[in-house]
Amino acid sequence: MTEKKQKTVVSGIRPTGNLHLGNYFGAVRSFVKMQSEYRCYFFIADLHSLTTHPTPDNLQAGVKQVLAEYLACGIDPEQATIFIQSDVPEVVELYTFLNMNAYLGELERTTSFKEKARQNPDNVNAGLLTYPVLMAADIIIHKAHFVPVGKDQEQNLEMARKFATRFNHMYGHRLFPLPKPFTFDGHEMIKVPGLDGSGKMGKSEGNGIFLYEDPADIRKKVMRAVTDSGPTMMNQEKPEPIRNLFTLMKIVSTPETVAFFDGQYNQCVIRYGDMKKQLAEDIIAFTAPIRERILAIRNDEVYLARVAREGAEKARESAAKTLAEVKALIGLKRLW
Ligand code: TRP
Repeated sequence: MTEKKQKTVVSGIRPTGNLHLGNYFGAVRSFVKMQSEYRCYFFIADLHSLTTHPTPDNLQAGVKQVLAEYLACGIDPEQATIFIQSDVPEVVELYTFLNMNAYLGELERTTSFKEKARQNPDNVNAGLLTYPVLMAADIIIHKAHFVPVGKDQEQNLEMARKFATRFNHMYGHRLFPLPKPFTFDGHEMIKVPGLDGSGKMGKSEGNGIFLYEDPADIRKKVMRAVTDSGPTMMNQEKPEPIRNLFTLMKIVSTPETVAFFDGQYNQCVIRYGDMKKQLAEDIIAFTAPIRERILAIRNDEVYLARVAREGAEKARESAAKTLAEVKALIGLKRLW
């Protein structure tokens, strides 16, 4: 075991399905790298997704799809513990304990709570309010040191540290390490742009290319990407939509291909149609094998069920150990 495997990493993924290129290059690829270096727990946060009341069918399908996609991307159940949150009831028990020391004021002040409450004023439920408490339980139940998450989750992680610190102080123990955000080395953090001319690729922006997407649909999307009327001066600076196309190309194409179109741009002879055709083919060459694996894994329910069962067993073992310590500290371990 390498020295690093002594540090624990936890990250949760909401089962909203269908990973896109942005998720892959922004996060999943790093998870795959981390699994050989750290003790990793990656889980599907199905309980968290209940705040928005999915139908049972959608929830089922979403959990299965995400599991298949992560496995298809190379998360290896032999190296990392991959599990489904609701298979580990110990988390919910810890959540109950943490809730006793989570205060209404601080929960109401959370940015993501305020945002969601504003977006859905008819569904401001208690689960939404205590979302950061459940997330803290997810993390500290495995005594995580690092949590790889995006910027949007930093406040939730700060709250996890707060709840862990509070518990440690209250019971005079340093039971929980304080989980830190995991920041990848600069070069690994690729921000993948969308195809709509500005900003990054996102699920809700509707500008994404999914790993699971059909090649014909990928071609259609890429051909429709926003461009401009073309350069008018040699070596002129590229406006954002064009820069974005080049950024995508740098991610999926060879350096020679990128250099070729860059030269064409600088000489003012570029034909965006040709560039897009090439880009679409290179994206397809990258996603096609992943798509095939997703399809194969998704159809292999026996394999999926085994991965989920074995992951749950490993996660429960780790969670039960922490929970026993927590209960002893609280005074819930019967001494008579
Ligand atoms: N809140 C996270 C998100 O929306 C998902 C999540 C739940 C999570 N529990 C977690 C992430 C624990 C990291 C660690 O993306």
